[in-house]
Amino acid sequence: MIFGRVKPLDAILATAEKKGLHRTLGAFQLTMLGIGAVIGTGIFVLTSEAAQKAGPAMLLSFVVAGFVCAVAALCYSELASMVPVSGSAYTYSYAVVGEILAWMVGWALILEYAVGASAVAVGWSNHAVGLLNSLGWHIPAAISNADALMAHMQLALGAAPSEDLDKALAVGGWINVPAIIVIGFVTWLLVIGTTESARVNAVLVLIKIAALTAFIALTLPALKSDNFNPFMPTGIGNPLSSSGLGVLGAAASIFFAYVGFDAVSTAAEETKNPQRNVPIGLIGSLVICTIFYLLVASGAIGAIGAQPVANAAGQILSPGSPELAGRCATLVASGFVEPLVCSKEALVHVLEAIDWPFVGRLVGLAAVLALPSVVLMMMFGQTRIFFTMARDGLLPEKLASVHSKYRTPHVVTVVTGVCAAFAAAVLPVGKLADYSNAGTLFAFFMVAISVMVLRRTDPNRHRPFRTPLVFVVAPLAILGCVVLYLSLPLTAKLVLPIWGAIGLLIYFGYSRSRSHVGRGLVEVHELDSDAPPPAVPPTPSFD
Ligand code: ALA
Repeated sequence: MIFGRVKPLDAILATAEKKGLHRTLGAFQLTMLGIGAVIGTGIFVLTSEAAQKAGPAMLLSFVVAGFVCAVAALCYSELASMVPVSGSAYTYSYAVVGEILAWMVGWALILEYAVGASAVAVGWSNHAVGLLNSLGWHIPAAISNADALMAHMQLALGAAPSEDLDKALAVGGWINVPAIIVIGFVTWLLVIGTTESARVNAVLVLIKIAALTAFIALTLPALKSDNFNPFMPTGIGNPLSSSGLGVLGAAASIFFAYVGFDAVSTAAEETKNPQRNVPIGLIGSLVICTIFYLLVASGAIGAIGAQPVANAAGQILSPGSPELAGRCATLVASGFVEPLVCSKEALVHVLEAIDWPFVGRLVGLAAVLALPSVVLMMMFGQTRIFFTMARDGLLPEKLASVHSKYRTPHVVTVVTGVCAAFAAAVLPVGKLADYSNAGTLFAFFMVAISVMVLRRTDPNRHRPFRTPLVFVVAPLAILGCVVLYLSLPLTAKLVLPIWGAIGLLIYFGYSRSRSHVGRGLVEVHELDSDAPPPAVPPTPSFD
């Protein structure tokens, strides 16, 4: 039976007990961990993309995306407190809905983590280039974005030539070198065994919170109610259309700004009283981020407006497209103030536009300092999942091999780094975020299904945290994930089934016959399936 291979929950739990990690994290540290993983490129950069899709109504998009994450987080919390082991949605699915769906979740999580890391790296690149430019070191566009490359590809694929595409070809870049550099740096840190300590994370969280607070304090007094009109220039959005515009389209993109809270669940094994603290960490970090995001978005809209930019024919251009990049370059060259939707560093740009350039640069500096840690967490999450899948026999064992000196899973880390760097080098941030969201939404969808299935199949198991009203909350999470997924632009919608089909070919061609569960090796294997590589000493930290 195709769904018959389930990894027994008791075996997974036995793993966690045998590992005996110190339980040191409390609710506060977990909340900080969540905020550290969540605040990043989403708010610092994608605010522009959301504005291009929804105008001022992006405020509603932040609420919709936050709501979907909140109901998904409630489902995550039940599983994370009940199965407090690493591997996140992949591990839960293996125990509940079986190997093949777990494989699909693990495969989709590559989109969430590796492609997500690429998106954050491009956001970092935007800020690093802006900061260096402001210091007088001009980094040529040719090597700091891929707008011209995208325009070239679009023309090669048969797009009609236009003034905007010509402009993108003339002023855009071909490869994003700073994004490659930051991913290379993070890969190196992970190979030599650096993980982020709670103290470094706390400092970076404070830097981000300080930057967002300064932004809110300076923009809210500059708020003009006219800037909220028209409020909803692109409407609610139609999940069945391919444009990705409207409130729902923007919610599907800005969803990226909330991704990362699941990092809290992966720390469940190291948490004191996970029953109480994991849900507090998950929900607490989401609530705090949502409040900040709404205030920041209100400040940005109110201070300089957030109307979408259209082409000469009056069509609203797709965010992240070379046409929009070209159009924006034309507007700026003709003497217009750069609209919010054109900016690659949304928050810095708003502060500059309201005459706080120095604070704007400090906000840019905060992003430059803090975003690498978001890249690190995403790449770390990716290596953990690859590693767990390899230890389960679903990926080549070679991937799980451990460096003789650093005792880290260096092969899987370098493979992840090379793939993430390639994507970051040639794709714009908005597209990367949308592709990442497609994978994340699938993983959240499966978690919501798993929590309901487990209530039916294993009703008596101890549940330290119970999702309240699970048969309302989980279906809402499922519905929310489906609606957001359908609201993504067409290419992002296609990425998931294409990626999934590749995954299934690999599963049936390679993984299924090698699976440890399938070969009856679970007992042996379970001793350390979710553990870090064997005999890994405590990792040095940059504490
Ligand atoms: N939520 C994280 C960010 O916005 C991934 O960068």
